[in-house]
Amino acid sequence: MCGIIGYAGRRQAAEILLDGLSTLEYRGYDSAGVAVVAPDGVAHVHKRTGKLENLRDTLNGAVLEGSLGIGHTRWATHGAPTDHNAHPHTDCSGEVVVVHNGIVENYRGLRQELKAGGHEFRSQTDSECIPHMIEDMLAQELSLDEAIAAVARHIRGASAVVAFTTREPGKIVGLRLGNAGGIVVGRNDDGVFLSSDLPALLPHTRDVYYLNAGEVVAITGDGITFSTLDGESLDKSPTKISYDPLSASKGSHEHFMHKEIHEQPEAMVNALGGRVSFDDLSVDLSELNLTDDLVSSVNRVVFLGMGTSLHAGMLGRHWMETLAKLPSDYDNSSEFRYRSPVLDSRTLVVSVCQSGETVDTLAAMELARDLGAPQITLCNYPGTQTTRIADSTMHLRAGLEIGVAASKTFTSSLVALLLMALEFGTHRGTVDSDLRKSLVSEIAHLPDALGSMLTDEGPYEKIARKYGRRSDFLFLGRGLGFPMAMEGALKLKEISYIHAEGYPAGEMKHGPISLIDEDMPVVAIAPSDSLLDKMQSNISEVKARGGNIIAVVSESDVETAELADDIIEIPRASEIINPFLVSIAMQLIAYHIGVSRGCDIDQPRNLAKTVTVE
Ligand code: G6P
Repeated sequence: MCGIIGYAGRRQAAEILLDGLSTLEYRGYDSAGVAVVAPDGVAHVHKRTGKLENLRDTLNGAVLEGSLGIGHTRWATHGAPTDHNAHPHTDCSGEVVVVHNGIVENYRGLRQELKAGGHEFRSQTDSECIPHMIEDMLAQELSLDEAIAAVARHIRGASAVVAFTTREPGKIVGLRLGNAGGIVVGRNDDGVFLSSDLPALLPHTRDVYYLNAGEVVAITGDGITFSTLDGESLDKSPTKISYDPLSASKGSHEHFMHKEIHEQPEAMVNALGGRVSFDDLSVDLSELNLTDDLVSSVNRVVFLGMGTSLHAGMLGRHWMETLAKLPSDYDNSSEFRYRSPVLDSRTLVVSVCQSGETVDTLAAMELARDLGAPQITLCNYPGTQTTRIADSTMHLRAGLEIGVAASKTFTSSLVALLLMALEFGTHRGTVDSDLRKSLVSEIAHLPDALGSMLTDEGPYEKIARKYGRRSDFLFLGRGLGFPMAMEGALKLKEISYIHAEGYPAGEMKHGPISLIDEDMPVVAIAPSDSLLDKMQSNISEVKARGGNIIAVVSESDVETAELADDIIEIPRASEIINPFLVSIAMQLIAYHIGVSRGCDIDQPRNLAKTVTVE
């Protein structure tokens, strides 16, 4: 979950590293550090607790001269966020410098052994074992590449390690072990860049190489070499990235999340391009290479994901059942991977993972692959790990998403899932041409409909003023509204730190109703659909117990509006399409409440954008 950056080249490294870290801060922001090799060959390490600006303040404009260095932004696993625990870590001599992402599971034993061998530790981290181990290996005349490969044989758990030593000037070596976050590498005329994540590379190059698990990369100012842990060299082809680096800036928005919420109409247009024909209202998902054999043999679908992506999978299940009449299920990847799931070649596994790197989803996908299940994955970043495991990928095409709380990648995932359900339904004969055409024409209008919801945020500001100081919220929904209630509660928790629960409205009487009083606002997802009268009853039950209702209703639904204390109106749409519109409402409620409470919207405490440790 930590962010890693490295540079070797002809320019001054420090500014490149600090700029890279500022684009990577969403990965972790407990502390930040850089190490640069000065012209005299000595490594200078600077690190500071807290956000990157603290590190910049510490450097206080000092020029760190040197054209090779590495940097890190930390999401703490072992050891509190302190200056000592910040990366980079060094060996005893200060000649081996390491940044690390992941967990060294056997670090206690390693630490004891290393201490017994005379190594002095300065931090409480698992990561600090690595430079000390490399120090020992270099003393045995191993090269840095060989030492890193040897480290891989000693440490347990998934890790990404990037290191240099002043004893082999001009070189940085990276290692990826298991699924703990990626390493991506690219070059331009100024030098070679390495990072945990794409955004830090985009200002420098669009041709990038991804490291797979069990691979080592060595970069110098003008070269990149890849090898296996056994030292065999590897040939890799670059992946071309088309994102505009400008999208990594906030523009006129106060927060990335706000910008990304507003980018949803455009993201939707991109997600539909080439997949939906507005002339004959058809869907073309040839990118999935769905053979007739596969479509006719699949008798069950399992959707996997974590966080917001799991909520997308919950909606995917609903659509797949409704439209393709395929028995479907959803599962949290971290639970699925440790059960004994029953899958075979007739179970289609659809994973939703915008980052392509979430450790639990990767492990769940590997398990599904081992069990012989065909797999489709939804991903926003071409070439990432999930896309290598799945048989085919639906790219979300949402563009860069920097805000830690997912917004546009969620709605882009929904587009992909709905189109997929339509495709399966069409192939299986469960969606006739009239239904397909009416849904596709509604989908075609979605960018406009979403855009219309973004013109006036006044109602959300009002809700934030009225309820922003409450300490608990309940979100209730039925049918397609239930995953949206879960997502609404998650968004609110994430960015406003208010305790919030999402429940199926029918479950309310089995517990949550006892919580309801005048201090508990209840967000009722109540668009006009086949379950509206049931939601109206639930709303009345909350009102009868003194609760406040914020109802998300379809335009001009006066009847439901009259039951509520406050309303958010969404454009009228069919039941299947409503979740897209409800999404915007959930995001803006959370956003404006978070802003009213002065929260750190883009980098909420304790969270990270990509969860690469279990
Ligand atoms: C983290 C992020 C969430 C995201 C989840 C799943 O928790 O903070 O915004 O929904 O990971 O991410 P994925 O990359 O698997 O979609």
